[in-house]
Amino acid sequence: MVKKGIQYVVVSALFSLIFSLVGSNENWCSPVVWSQVDAFTAQPFKGNPAAVCFLEDDAAAPAGDGRWMQSVAVEFNLSQTAFFSRDSSCAADATTPRFHLRWFTPVTEVALCGHATLATAHFLFTSVLAERHGVVEFATKSGVLTAKKVPAPEAEEQGKLFIELDFPMSDYVGCDPADELPSIPETLNGAPVVSVHKSVATNDFIVELSSGKEVADVLPNIEEIRKCAGRGVIVTAPAPAGSG
Ligand SMILES: *[C@@H]1O[C@H](CO)[C@@H](O)[C@H](O)[C@H]1NC(C)=O
Repeated sequence: MVKKGIQYVVVSALFSLIFSLVGSNENWCSPVVWSQVDAFTAQPFKGNPAAVCFLEDDAAAPAGDGRWMQSVAVEFNLSQTAFFSRDSSCAADATTPRFHLRWFTPVTEVALCGHATLATAHFLFTSVLAERHGVVEFATKSGVLTAKKVPAPEAEEQGKLFIELDFPMSDYVGCDPADELPSIPETLNGAPVVSVHKSVATNDFIVELSSGKEVADVLPNIEEIRKCAGRGVIVTAPAPAGSG
């Protein structure tokens, strides 16, 4: 079920273009380039939105101004705001450019976020920063993550940008849903469940369905999910053949 690394193959759309934002403390008047990107969709106003802010060299490194980033994330008030900057220890002409990347919810900094990483990769691959590159790397609190341009899996999607992310593997243990997640049928509005596991590090339930289509079609019951004992519920299924 879980291979080395969790991968997403997705398409994302740039939704609102570049505006300026007042920069950090000592540089308060320098503009910051940012964008809001809808991940996991090719249509504007769908998918999962994230704000992406490009900071000057190394400013998003772990020693960067996290308090300022938190204030910006509060103002965006999206589920995630990503901050990235060039990693200046990486040669300017490196085959695979590397960027520092951090993610903030309106409440706190988080150790890992999928959709805001995808949004950042989309920003990079559609700008001068990385449009000529096939792969970019992100130095993050969860290690080095990669984002790679991949061909569209379906002929009718040719020309759209698909991006594959390679994320760290999370250890998981078996779990008896009757005991720990008795409300599964209500939680997923009756989607047929193949297995239920629990992630060790984050205490998320990992619910396996039989196909990607079922994952796309699932209608989560947010009220039931809120009552679950774990941090959240992850719904997954084997990727379609040929998607990597
Ligand atoms: C932030 O977003 C949440 C959820 O969309 C909303 O309920 C809340 O009113 C927003 N807060 C502000 C200050 O706009």
